[in-house]
Amino acid sequence: MTQLDEIKSRLDIVDLVGETVKLRRAGKNYSGLCPFHNEKTPSFIVSPDRQTWHCFGQCSEGGDVFKFVMKKEGWDFKEALRYLAAKAGVTLEAYTPQQQEEKDAHERLRGLLEETAAFYRHQLLQTEAGKPALTYLLEKRKLTPQTIETFGLGYAPQGWDNALKHFTAKGFTEQEMIDTGLVSVREEKRDTGTPEHRKTFDRFRQRIMIPIRDEQGRMTGFGARILNPDDFPKFMNSPETPLFSKSRILYGLDRARKAIRLADQAVIVEGYLDVIAVHQAGFENVVSPMGTALTEEQLRLLKRFSRRIVLALDPDAAGQKAVLSGLEAARQSLDRETELRFDARGLLRHEARLQADLRVATMPDALDPDEIVQRDPAQWKSLIEKAQPIVVHVMETLAAGRDLEDAKVKSEIAAQVSPLIEDLPNPVERETYRQRLARFLKVDERALSGGQVPGPRTRRPRPRVRENIPAQEVAPPAAAPPVTASQKIEAHILGLLLLRPGLLFRLDRALQEAALARMAAEDFGYTDHQMIFRLVRQSLDQDAADADRYLAGAMPEALAPLAASLLAGVGKLDPVDDRLLEDLFRGVVKIRRAMLAESINQLRFLQEEAQQTGDLPSGDDMRAASYRAMVQQHSAFLLLLDQAQMKKNGRR
Ligand code: UTP
Ligand code: MN
Repeated sequence: MTQLDEIKSRLDIVDLVGETVKLRRAGKNYSGLCPFHNEKTPSFIVSPDRQTWHCFGQCSEGGDVFKFVMKKEGWDFKEALRYLAAKAGVTLEAYTPQQQEEKDAHERLRGLLEETAAFYRHQLLQTEAGKPALTYLLEKRKLTPQTIETFGLGYAPQGWDNALKHFTAKGFTEQEMIDTGLVSVREEKRDTGTPEHRKTFDRFRQRIMIPIRDEQGRMTGFGARILNPDDFPKFMNSPETPLFSKSRILYGLDRARKAIRLADQAVIVEGYLDVIAVHQAGFENVVSPMGTALTEEQLRLLKRFSRRIVLALDPDAAGQKAVLSGLEAARQSLDRETELRFDARGLLRHEARLQADLRVATMPDALDPDEIVQRDPAQWKSLIEKAQPIVVHVMETLAAGRDLEDAKVKSEIAAQVSPLIEDLPNPVERETYRQRLARFLKVDERALSGGQVPGPRTRRPRPRVRENIPAQEVAPPAAAPPVTASQKIEAHILGLLLLRPGLLFRLDRALQEAALARMAAEDFGYTDHQMIFRLVRQSLDQDAADADRYLAGAMPEALAPLAASLLAGVGKLDPVDDRLLEDLFRGVVKIRRAMLAESINQLRFLQEEAQQTGDLPSGDDMRAASYRAMVQQHSAFLLLLDQAQMKKNGRR
């Protein structure tokens, strides 16, 4: 739940408005004198169902709790947010002066990292020392100059102080170089009693440098691969720094995010060079972790772009065995930092908790993704299409090369897979996989459930909470806040637009063809939604950056979590733009319809009220008449909407 949702769910519009306006029950709504203009008879209505207010008098305006305090106090959204958060008892993560300082320091470090990438790039492309590395990339790895450029690859030459000297001359301090992980430190103790001596030297020497950026394209660190096969270790990463956190970043996501959205699918490979090669082959929805187990944080990050995630695993130990590793209790001792751990139990938990769709694709013939796409790009495509759910993958891997008619083999496989299934939190899923396993083994499903495995008795391994799942994340997710129906539809529309901002043009055109107005911020009943919509509109009206990037950059801090959750909310998408467009069109009609219907309802009420008090002449009669006229106008709009939708349906 985002902080915004939390605030909304804890505040009631009737209470909030009731603090300044004397409200009277009016059917399922409340009415009162509008606080924003001077009036003697109420034209101000509050709807607890929609959590909105509206003035049908002079203001002819309305909105949600945010809009109310913004208008009343003359605040901007941020100020209103601060006030309402305090009121709702929600702590906002605001910037303290220290945090601001930290942010500034991070900016400086990013600058240094950016320059470091340029330095190594220069070494690769423009120096004699870089030649062998360049030749290796072009000839051995078959990367094009364009790809090398796109991914900003570089070379760290031999020597202990190339970078150190270069950046000292440029005015950077040793501490800054240490903080970005560019140089290493060795403390040399002397027994003479003199103070400790600190020795600094270039961390990366004789390595191909791979800049690692976060999902917004900001520099965070480097991966560095050996050039000389005898060197060790094969890969070295930047150390964990304030900017570089291996568990939080996915390599290539800045370049992959758009393609992931378009394809509504993300593929995770194991190596940096796989990411680069597969992108070069034209499949850009590919990212990789950085030599560590895939964390839930990484999956969560990825899920902002698509919930359909495929793990493309090397056939070697790192891949296959790793998926199975959750099955072996004794493997913890083997958990080295450099070993990739895609373990089935952990992955299944992530999948369930994140409501993601995780699948496994196996690379054949002992080839890396890198080699597959070089051999045959079409094969990559079909391998990814054939990806299997994790449980199925585990079943098949365990069964590979074994005789499935053999009862002993059957019971062994059942004994290994059943605990995985029984650990799943979702009973429907459990049942589905039980059936699947039963079918696979050709045994009676009842024999599998409840740990009753045919054949030799096996001890069911105790579920282990792996260290990369913090305990609090294992807890069931908090209950969703109560959301109104219109809020949901608005969220859906916005989610789609955030995903494909370009569809807004087509939506506008479709609306106009149906004789309806273009989409406007006022179509949304909630202030935060209106603000996000305006940003989507702006993203199309500018051409400094592509719409995605613009949105990522322009999204105010306070709205970013909401935007992320809106995106996550749209989930699996129909890849056909035409269908999305229809979906959007229907959504717009729905929210406009709901808003009109609600207004009509409220106006009728005001009209009756005016008529009842109307034994006194004139004023109230006039009011009743004007309300009646407004009802008629609203009803006419409603009719137009319905006709437009009917025409649309007819055309399909
Ligand atoms: P691989 O050894 O499979 O490397 O490690 P690769 O990417 O296929 O490289 P090439 O094709 O041999 O050049 C996969 C990933 O595991 C991490 C790196 O992130 C690497 O990309 N790794 C590997 C390490 O962090 N340290 C190591 O020593 C080895
Ligand atoms: Mn490889």
